[in-house]
Amino acid sequence: MGALDGKVAVITGGNRGIGRGIAEALTQDGARVVLTARSAAAAEQAAKEIGGDTVGVACDVRSFELVQRLFGEVERRTGGVDILVNNAGIGIFGSVVDLDPEDWRATIETNLNGVFYCCHEAIPQMKRRGGGYIFNISSLAGKNPMMNAAAYNASKFGLNGFSEALMMEVRYDEHPRLLP
Ligand SMILES: NC(=O)c1ccc[n+]([C@@H]2O[C@H](COP(=O)([O-])OP(=O)(O)OC[C@H]3O[C@@H](n4cnc5c(N)ncnc54)[C@H](OP(=O)(O)O)[C@@H]3O)[C@@H](O)[C@H]2O)c1
Repeated sequence: MGALDGKVAVITGGNRGIGRGIAEALTQDGARVVLTARSAAAAEQAAKEIGGDTVGVACDVRSFELVQRLFGEVERRTGGVDILVNNAGIGIFGSVVDLDPEDWRATIETNLNGVFYCCHEAIPQMKRRGGGYIFNISSLAGKNPMMNAAAYNASKFGLNGFSEALMMEVRYDEHPRLLP
């Protein structure tokens, strides 16, 4: 028996790096893990290697439509998400003058918009299931400005603000008696 038996976890960017480690750990604890990568092949391969009840699904978190599709599939296949790990992220570095606007957009769209899209879709499922947990993977760059990291800093500072504001919105959902 694992501590997370019966729980469904969605991990964005779960095919490699930190997300892969989280996917492995949650699988070992008994969760049914849905991990994503941008390519279906990469997501499915990682899920196969991790084993257990792990499923790999393609999703580019920059697209609201694809995120909606992901959570629709999660609900159909598993009944809904209990744990969301917003891990997918990129870092593109360069001075503000040298940074390609496309790289600025990609950073904000992945690290910030993508987290909003996933929370927007996951929270109603969590509420229907009686609660849930959201982990947003930020960075020391969410608190410490660094040279040539304006896009990454902006995305992670923004993510910290988003996470704290979201916490204010949902923190009493499971404990309405504690409402101020
Ligand atoms: N590594 C560090 O030292 C460090 C430090 C602080 C914070 N972080 C944060 O930790 C998180 C993971 O970092 P990592 O080092 O493990 O990164 P990584 O090894 O480069 O992996 C990034 C993951 O994000 C996915 N991803 C990237 N863009 C995506 C998109 N548009 N839609 C969906 N998935 C996307 C990648 O999937 P694909 O295979 O499809 O590209 C991959 O699975 C990031 O949020 C990062 O900012 C990392």
